[in-house]
Amino acid sequence: MDVKIAPSILSADFARLGEEIQAIDEGGCDYVHIDVMDGHFVPNLTFGPPIIKCARPWTKKVFDVHLMINPAQPFLKDYADAGADIITVHAEADPHIDRSLQYIRSLGKKAGISLNPATPEGIVEYVLDKLDLILVMSVNPGFGGQSFIESQLEKIARLRKMIGDRPIELEVDGGVSPATAGAVVAAGANVLVAGSAVFKGDGKAAYIANMEAIRAAAAQARAA
Ligand code: DX5
Ligand code: ZN
Repeated sequence: MDVKIAPSILSADFARLGEEIQAIDEGGCDYVHIDVMDGHFVPNLTFGPPIIKCARPWTKKVFDVHLMINPAQPFLKDYADAGADIITVHAEADPHIDRSLQYIRSLGKKAGISLNPATPEGIVEYVLDKLDLILVMSVNPGFGGQSFIESQLEKIARLRKMIGDRPIELEVDGGVSPATAGAVVAAGANVLVAGSAVFKGDGKAAYIANMEAIRAAAAQARAA
């Protein structure tokens, strides 16, 4: 699988969200990573379905919606209707994760599970056949701009083995930059979320250079 770049719009200028999404789209991003926070599961609040719906016409790229909300289940259809393509729920926020994953697929969307840094990878073992994506949090969720937690590299490598030849994407989120992308890809990830490392500098030209720097670090690690 090619390495994909999923800029997190958490670090975008929310007052110009449409233009910011257009800039990363034209700049060659693969996914648009959308961090939904509820001020309850995580200590920060962002946005819900109406804003995602308004953002939808600005790009045809995959909307990769990372739900950091508890409960998630009652809102899954709202996110699907708003234009999500991938919907990822947190293992720690849902005692009925098997049901939620099936429900997401029944809505015609790809289903993801996310694991906080302290959550062991074994939790995915019995739902592998219901998963399209596994999201490893390499920071404690809630904020952009935090430092990468090195212990997650081992988790990524173990998950890569568990996935085997199943068509499941392995995404990493938090502290991903040109300095850490190589190790993340070498460990086995194929989708890199990056917020502060992409939305740095002034507009499209800067975002393109930032994405290229991450891709170059990833490619170098793959070639090694
Ligand atoms: C954190 C979010 C991340 C965040 C990453 O809770 O899930 O997607 O935006 O930000 P950076 O790339 O700045 O660590
Ligand atoms: Zn995220």
